[in-house]
Amino acid sequence: MKVTRFGHTCVVGLCWGDEGKGKIVDLLTEHFDVVVRYNGGANAGHTVRFDGQRFALHLVPAGVLHANVVGVIGPGVALDPLIVLQELGELKQRGIDLGWDSPDKRLRISDRAHVVMPYHKLEDQLSEARLPPDRRIGTTARGIGPCYADKMHRTPAIRVGDLRHLDLLRERLAQILEGKNRIFHGLFGEGLSLDADELAGEYHQHGRRLEEFIGDTTVWLQQAAADGKRLLFEGAHGTLLDIDHGTFPYVSSSSSALGVAPGAGVPARLVRTFVGVAKAYATRVGEGPFPSELKDDIGQRIRDRGNEYGTTTRRPRRCGWFDAVAARYAVMLGGISKVALMHLDTLSGLAEVGICTAYRYAHTDAASNHFSADAYELSRARPVLEMLPGWTEELGEARCLGDLPWNARRFVARLEELLRVRIVIVSVGPDRDQTIFCGTPEAKP
Ligand code: IMP
Repeated sequence: MKVTRFGHTCVVGLCWGDEGKGKIVDLLTEHFDVVVRYNGGANAGHTVRFDGQRFALHLVPAGVLHANVVGVIGPGVALDPLIVLQELGELKQRGIDLGWDSPDKRLRISDRAHVVMPYHKLEDQLSEARLPPDRRIGTTARGIGPCYADKMHRTPAIRVGDLRHLDLLRERLAQILEGKNRIFHGLFGEGLSLDADELAGEYHQHGRRLEEFIGDTTVWLQQAAADGKRLLFEGAHGTLLDIDHGTFPYVSSSSSALGVAPGAGVPARLVRTFVGVAKAYATRVGEGPFPSELKDDIGQRIRDRGNEYGTTTRRPRRCGWFDAVAARYAVMLGGISKVALMHLDTLSGLAEVGICTAYRYAHTDAASNHFSADAYELSRARPVLEMLPGWTEELGEARCLGDLPWNARRFVARLEELLRVRIVIVSVGPDRDQTIFCGTPEAKP
């Protein structure tokens, strides 16, 4: 049994996604036995550098790059079998076999996870396209919203376990496509050119290829915990994109930190530590309020230096100053006790670095540190900025806080003060060794 100070741990983003969770999960994984995805789907993209290679994974938990670690895709995930198959194939080509030809099965997929079907992706694209540009969410077009909508609706849903039964699939898809055709005709002016039998055959094949990985992960995880295995939960998207507590409707369609229990199938009290990941600045992809956004040269500089282009869609990310009001809200919501601060190196070379410490909402001129998750209200909020002196030095070689220039240390200390939670990791580059574990023993798992 491996012992960590953290206990069973969940890693979540504190902002609007793309915080660098992949690197943190990868760093922590060596202290865990099982890495679990419990929310979202292929809208998430985790980039990890491992053994000198770059991996961009959307559904397979990034932790499986470590030999001996088992990856679990839990019931709360919207699973696109095509993407899982593609990722498994690519991993195998690069020497990482999670099960197909190996005696150790290192991936388990919940039979309760919901399947993203081709019509979900189409519906995602068409429903965005029919809206005026200022009303669009700017989704990743991976079919996430429509798949979760069908899950809640229940009768039009297909779960991973269903892929194993051809007759059932045929019957269900005939019904589902009949209904979808009507909806597509009515909403988008044209029906679906999909044949139920063909689609059933195709997805049954995917199910067969994945069959050895599919099962009841809920009981398996509970047993793993009872056996003393350490579990690491890997959140997709960021807290501010949470379906209930994010900037609705500019959110994704599942829960963030609060979704770990239902999404993975574990009691909430099992997860002892929530690690929040935030960059030293803020980013957002897609539409929605972003009070500290920089639409100027500084924003562009951050985008270029930080390579802020989507892993999933390659869209340029909107960039802005660190938003301490939003991050503090995310810390509170997720019960975050440790923070990993990413991309500090990206801010080098700026004369000043900003932190948004409060908002001025439209209805009052007073500064407020309340984060309104009401998108209408938040989009009219103006940021109150605190500007700190910047630093010119590149930080990629720093390995302890003492290696950082004074102004960078001051910036980190100020963030810690504003968040009221320990920053235990500071990342100064994409590689594993470009990481500072800050001081105290609690910093390390
Ligand atoms: P959806 O999840 O594809 O429906 O997209 C809804 C919103 O969440 C859009 O603004 C997306 O850009 C954003 N989003 C979803 N997943 C991620 C993520 O992993 N990183 C960043 N943004 C995301």
